[in-house]
Amino acid sequence: MTRSDVANAYAPDFPPDISGVDWWAMLADPAYLADPYAALKRIRDLAPVHQDPVSGIYFVLGHDAFRRMATAPEMGRDTSLWRDGWNSPENRLRDPLSFELFGEFQPQMTNANPPEHRRMRAVYEKAFREASLAWLRPAIASECADLLDSLPLDAPVDFMAAFANPLARRVTRVAFELPAEMDAQVAEWVAALSLVGNIIMSPEEKRDALSALRAFKAYLRDRLTAGIDPNGLLALAQASHADGTMDEEESLTNLVTLVSGGAATATLLGNGMLALLRHPAEFGRLRADRALVGSAVEEMLRYEPGGSFILRVAIRDYRCGDILVPAGSLAIGLVPAITRDPAQFDDPDRFDIGRRPNPHQVFGGGPHICLGKALVRMTAEAAFARLAERFGRIELACNPVWWTHRSDQHGLHSLPLRFGHA
Ligand code: HEM
Repeated sequence: MTRSDVANAYAPDFPPDISGVDWWAMLADPAYLADPYAALKRIRDLAPVHQDPVSGIYFVLGHDAFRRMATAPEMGRDTSLWRDGWNSPENRLRDPLSFELFGEFQPQMTNANPPEHRRMRAVYEKAFREASLAWLRPAIASECADLLDSLPLDAPVDFMAAFANPLARRVTRVAFELPAEMDAQVAEWVAALSLVGNIIMSPEEKRDALSALRAFKAYLRDRLTAGIDPNGLLALAQASHADGTMDEEESLTNLVTLVSGGAATATLLGNGMLALLRHPAEFGRLRADRALVGSAVEEMLRYEPGGSFILRVAIRDYRCGDILVPAGSLAIGLVPAITRDPAQFDDPDRFDIGRRPNPHQVFGGGPHICLGKALVRMTAEAAFARLAERFGRIELACNPVWWTHRSDQHGLHSLPLRFGHA
C-alpha cells in the first residue's frame, strides 16, 4: 500500500503529525507486520494519539487513551458515520463497490451504536457467558485430543494447518451446528470476509468479500430453516428473527460475524505457541504448573496480539487529552502498541506467563467488548494445557512465516514444529 493509494481513497490535507511517519507504508511493511513493537514504541513515546495527515485517521497507541476512547459515549462503532469513509457521498460515487460491500455488512451489532447495538447484542449476551458455554467444554477437549493424536512425532508439521486452524474450525462447527463437510467452504468465506477489517482493500478483495458475504448469508438462511437444536446458538438467531428483535438481514449478518470469530482463536493459538517456544523458561514454568494456563493465555494475548486494529467513529466531538477528535472521524486503536505501553505494564517487552494484573484490552472495551472472549479463553486454555501435558518436547522445525497481506492482523501463515516426548 502506498501513500497515494491512501490519498486517493480518502480526502487528504490534514496537519502534519510529530511522528513524521508514513503510516500506511509502515502498516503494510512486511518487517513491521512480523515485529511491530519497536516502531510503535518510538511513536507511542512521542504521544499516545496521532493523526495521519494523509487519511485524517487518528491512531491511538496509549493504553489509557484507548481505554477512555473505547468506553466514551461520544465514540461509537458505526462506520457509516465515518465522514470520509465508505458511506460518504463522495465515496458512493467514486467507489460504489465499497458502498455495496460495507452496506451489506452493516446491519450487525459490531457496526451499531446505541440503542441498536444493545438490542442486537442482548440476543447473545447470556449465551456467551463462561458459565453458559460450559456445554462446549467436552467437545473442545475431545477435538483437542483428536488433533493431538494426529500430530506426527519427530517430523516437521505446520502447527497452523495441523492444529490451530482445524481446532478453531471444529469448535465453531460444534458451537454453531455446522456440518463438517462445510468446513472448507466456511473457511474460504471467512478468509475473504476477514479482509473487510483491513480498511484498504483492492477491488478484487472487495468483490470476493461481497460474493462470500452473499453466499454465506444464503447458506445460513437455509441452515436456520433446517432442523436445529432448540437450545443452541442458532435457535437464538432464529428466535430473534421470529419475535421481531432483529430483522432477517440483522440476524444473518450477526451470525456471519459470530461464525467468523473462530479464525481469531486460531491466530492466538499460533502466536501463543510461538511466544512459548521463544521463551523456553516460561514454557517450562507452564509445564511445571499447569494452573498457570489462564494467566499464560492472557499474556499470549497481550504479548503477541493477533488483531491489530480496534475501530471507533466519533458520534460527537470527543476530546482526547489535547486532541479534538471531531464528529465523523475514524480512530484506530493500534493493539500491539496499547499492550506494550510501559505506563501500564512493567517491563512490557518481557513475556511473563504469571503476569498479574494483565488488563491488556485485546478484546476491546466498553459496550463492544468481544462477545466471544469466554469461548476464546476456554479453547486456548484447553489447547495449551493439553499441549504442555502431551509433549515433553516441542521445537521450531524452521522459521515461522507471518502474514504480510494485511495491516489489521498480526498472525502466522505457518509455524513448522517438531513434536516429541522428552
Ligand atoms: C483471540 C480471539 C479473538 C479476539 C482477539 C477478538 C477481539 C475482538 C475485538 C478487539 C473486538 C472489538 C471490541 C471493541 O470494539 O471494543 C471484538 C468484537 C467481537 N467479537 Fe471477538 N475476538 C476474538 C474471537 C471471537 C470469537 C471466537 C467470537 C465468536 C464466537 C467473537 C465474536 C465477537 C463479536 C460478535 C464482536 C462484536 C461485539 C459487539 O460489537 O458488541 N470474537 N472481538
